[in-house]
Amino acid sequence: MSLIQVENVTKTFHSTSEEVTPISNLDLVVEKGEFVVLMGPSGSGKTTLLHMLAGIDRPTKGVVRVAGEEVSAMSPSQLARWRTRAVGYVFQQYNLIPVLTAFENVEVPLLLLRLSRAEREKKISTALAAVGLSDRAHHLPRQLSGGQQQRVAIARAIVADPVVVFADEPTGNLDRNAAKMTMEMLRRLVDEFGKTLVMVTHDPVAAQAADRIVHLDKGQIVTEATHA
Ligand SMILES: Nc1ncnc2c1ncn2[C@@H]1O[C@H](COP(=O)(O)OP(=O)(O)OP(=O)(O)O)[C@@H](O)[C@H]1O
Ligand SMILES: [Mg+2]
Repeated sequence: MSLIQVENVTKTFHSTSEEVTPISNLDLVVEKGEFVVLMGPSGSGKTTLLHMLAGIDRPTKGVVRVAGEEVSAMSPSQLARWRTRAVGYVFQQYNLIPVLTAFENVEVPLLLLRLSRAEREKKISTALAAVGLSDRAHHLPRQLSGGQQQRVAIARAIVADPVVVFADEPTGNLDRNAAKMTMEMLRRLVDEFGKTLVMVTHDPVAAQAADRIVHLDKGQIVTEATHA
């Protein structure tokens, strides 16, 4: 069975003046261990789709299943619990907590799980080592470069050992070198740690790291290209 199954999903936002339907009747399947990139023009519904896959938002119509669980049918509190154990999410703006060190930022998702302090420390050290930042554990975000901050955010996304990692324009704020390093880290999550990764990007160079590129336009998948 595929890890992610999106069946006939539509998302409509209602506001007082108008209705927007960024995703309509969309089908998508992602296999376990696959690295899929979503590309498409601004406003084509990429973030909206990622939010529904990650259980941050629910579809108006249709079904989203992840690892056999029907995410689209969960209540808000079920979704919150599910996200904690199953999902890692990397944002364009890193979203680190400025008053916490790298170590403490990576610790945050673990505080929602029942773990001893020793178990937490082991997982945090492993995650920071995986992104090459063991020597920056006690730095605050402002003492780190943008690329290093994004690697802390990746460590935070994987520390609870989620089944799937989502990333929304993770290299959007980075220069070419830092973007390249970030992409190498993300590729390693798939190759060495067996994670499944769905990433949104505008950057054709970053997209080259993927196994498959899915193009969205006006809420529909327009073409899918598979890399060798
Ligand atoms: N919470 C919301 N309420 C109302 N409209 C929304 C909401 N979220 C997104 N939209 C609308 O849905 C459409 C798709 O937005 P989305 O953020 O998914 O685009 P995107 O492909 O991620 O674009 P970008 O590349 O600029 O990030 C846009 O027209 C946006 O204004
Ligand atoms: Mg977006």
